[in-house]
Amino acid sequence: MERKCSIILPKDIGIITALTGLGSGFRVLDAGSGSGATAMHFGNIVGDQGEVFSYEIREDFAEIAERNVKGFGLDNVTVKCKDVTESIDEKDLNLIFLDLPKPWDAAEAAMDALKHGGYIATYTPFIEQIQILQRVLKKVGFKEVESFECIFRGIEVTNKGTRPKTRMAGHTGYLSFGRKI
Ligand SMILES: C[S@@+](CC[C@H](N)C(=O)[O-])C[C@H]1O[C@@H](n2cnc3c(N)ncnc32)[C@H](O)[C@@H]1O
Repeated sequence: MERKCSIILPKDIGIITALTGLGSGFRVLDAGSGSGATAMHFGNIVGDQGEVFSYEIREDFAEIAERNVKGFGLDNVTVKCKDVTESIDEKDLNLIFLDLPKPWDAAEAAMDALKHGGYIATYTPFIEQIQILQRVLKKVGFKEVESFECIFRGIEVTNKGTRPKTRMAGHTGYLSFGRKI
């Protein structure tokens, strides 16, 4: 797929999916879209009964994400050129996923847009970001606020022996979660 910025890797998508119970029929908001990789992954999981809305602030990136979504034949994913920190149009969402520099700026709008029991999940590369984020999420009223890092190491099997691979993605991002309950 065409891509201009980094995408969320399967190891991190897997944790988000498992910890939020994402499944068929869910209504999801994803921001920023970037190239649309995360939105497409969510679109695959929620299926025909579900919907994914993906906000991207940059028009050129929104166009790439839109093209990628169309190319993959997903018609349950809608890309909007929109700043998620300004407002969220959709209501009764099951999951709001934020992959942008200041996810805390969308925390209040997210609380309003989620249905009871819904999750906010964020992906941020730096520890300093999760310190601010956790403070804001708790202040806004999110419960079960937690952050994780997923370290995923391959194992290589050779004729000489079996051991962890020398090269790996040492760090991708921290995953943080909060729940509206
Ligand atoms: C790292 S990329 C997201 C990648 C995406 N998760 C994927 O897997 O393809 C971050 C994106 O967030 C967008 N962005 C930053 N601030 C935003 C905001 N306030 N509202 C919407 N999009 C925003 C950026 O333009 C950028 O395209």
